[in-house]
Amino acid sequence: EKGGYQWYMDKEIHEQPKAVADTLLGRTDASGALVLDELRMDTAVLRRTDKIIVIACGTAAYAGHVAKYAVEHWCRIPVEVELAHEFRYRDPVLTERTLVVAISQSGETMDVVMAIRHAREQGAKVLAICNTQGATIPRESDAALYTHAGPEVAVASTKAFLAQITACYLLGLYLAQLRGNMFADEVRTVLGQLHAMPDAVQTVLDRSDQVRELARELADSKSVLFLGRHVGYPVALEGALKLKELAYLHAEGFAAGELKHGPIALVEEGQPVFVIVPSPDSRDSLHAKVVSNAQEVRARGARTIVIAEDGDDAVLGSADLVVRVPRVPTLMAPLVTVVPLQVFAMEVASAKGLDVDQPRNLAKSVTVE
Ligand code: F6R
Repeated sequence: EKGGYQWYMDKEIHEQPKAVADTLLGRTDASGALVLDELRMDTAVLRRTDKIIVIACGTAAYAGHVAKYAVEHWCRIPVEVELAHEFRYRDPVLTERTLVVAISQSGETMDVVMAIRHAREQGAKVLAICNTQGATIPRESDAALYTHAGPEVAVASTKAFLAQITACYLLGLYLAQLRGNMFADEVRTVLGQLHAMPDAVQTVLDRSDQVRELARELADSKSVLFLGRHVGYPVALEGALKLKELAYLHAEGFAAGELKHGPIALVEEGQPVFVIVPSPDSRDSLHAKVVSNAQEVRARGARTIVIAEDGDDAVLGSADLVVRVPRVPTLMAPLVTVVPLQVFAMEVASAKGLDVDQPRNLAKSVTVE
């Protein structure tokens, strides 16, 4: 059943190229143009949308956080990302022009169900992005866009995360095209980039021995920090979540720019810090800023594990170890940079003799509030 892997999680990590490919499947026509007729949401509603609120929990919320950067860039619609359990207990500003996007692998997360009900009562339209056909969340939403990651058995979410980002991107491109923010040609170009991602993810998987070895070496760490910026920020949060839930060790993700506003005080001799470096051709010298963050923590004794794209030699001076990922467009980077972090967390847990698939205190689907 585990297909030769020791853990379902390992199997599911290796199914990620397929999860992305299957989520893209059938959503382009012969000419490479985007087709999402399955959405069954009135296009007039989507055209008049003036705000998107993503509601989700845990890893699904981080997928929404990644999507915020892409959707705002493509559609020029403000996107908020809110944890479902917080959303419900404040007094969110919702109108019939608000599109609520509920992301859930299981489709049964009670916090999300309650948030959807709340949103619909206030007149907002709800679109579910879900991995489980006919689950409560898509049933209670106005429309659904399914991820096709296949069943996820391990408690820690991996392939669903990549599929959620992929589905959110499809939705963003669809909206951008519908509302005239992007020409069909531009949409086709980004779709082409998405279609290249399964191979890029496979390349990262093929290189994962280096991270496995590192995990065994760092298994006794007390704490691990993760730094990222732009789309690398939610990836840092996800890397930290994986390590907490699987390896039971303290881990925190930060926006790299926030470092000097407090977290840098945590850094002491030997502190492992993962730094997710954006592509050198990212905007506004983001690359140089993150590289200098790596230098700053290293100068204070941190052991830096730098995730950087092939050929980026500017990181060499700030890294104790460089983990290479293939060169991909900036917005696609989370699909490759998160993979070494997943493998790292799994391998630390495994080295500590823990049950990777069934971490203590956790359930695969959280059906209570
Ligand atoms: C983390 C994890 C959880 C889930 C969260 C939402 O690895 O599995 O954080 O992502 O409980 O679950 P779904 O997506 O089923 O709503």
